[in-house]
Amino acid sequence: MKKRNISIEIIEYQDISELDEEIGNLIKKAEASSNNAYTPYSKFNVGAAILLDNGDIVCGNNQENAAYPSGLCAERVALFYANASFPTTAVKAIAIVAKNNNSISTEPVPPCGSCRQALLETETRFGKPIKVYLSGSKKIQEISSIKDLLPLNFDKDFLHNR
Ligand code: THU
Repeated sequence: MKKRNISIEIIEYQDISELDEEIGNLIKKAEASSNNAYTPYSKFNVGAAILLDNGDIVCGNNQENAAYPSGLCAERVALFYANASFPTTAVKAIAIVAKNNNSISTEPVPPCGSCRQALLETETRFGKPIKVYLSGSKKIQEISSIKDLLPLNFDKDFLHNR
């Protein structure tokens, strides 16, 4: 028997001014994008902003549907838009901001499991870690890669007899 522990590092900032300008701007874009979310059912608006390797920023927000499972999270709306528009450009970072009935959540809101899996695909596809910034009104959390958010992850290597 062997016991293994997995730990991840989370860097926390009290204020956006502690981050460099490029990331501060990314977080502001995620917040702005949350205002365009379509959330008549949950009233929970999420905005995601993706920083590409070429410096471009692509945003997305959650899009709900009367048939609930047909909606999509902000992170995947932004990610698929980025990958569809810039298929050869790696993703450097993603910022996520959530609002409950128009006020920014105090705690940072992490991406759901399906979004983590989709982000992992992009991370492995380009062989470059995607930094994650989760921004709440009390603090901002930085995680250095999607792999950290998804330990024991399933990726393409398992498809080829590993
Ligand atoms: N949602 C996101 O957009 N991202 C997440 O990471 C978690 C959940 C959305 C989906 C749905 O529109 C609403 O938040 C409530 O679950």
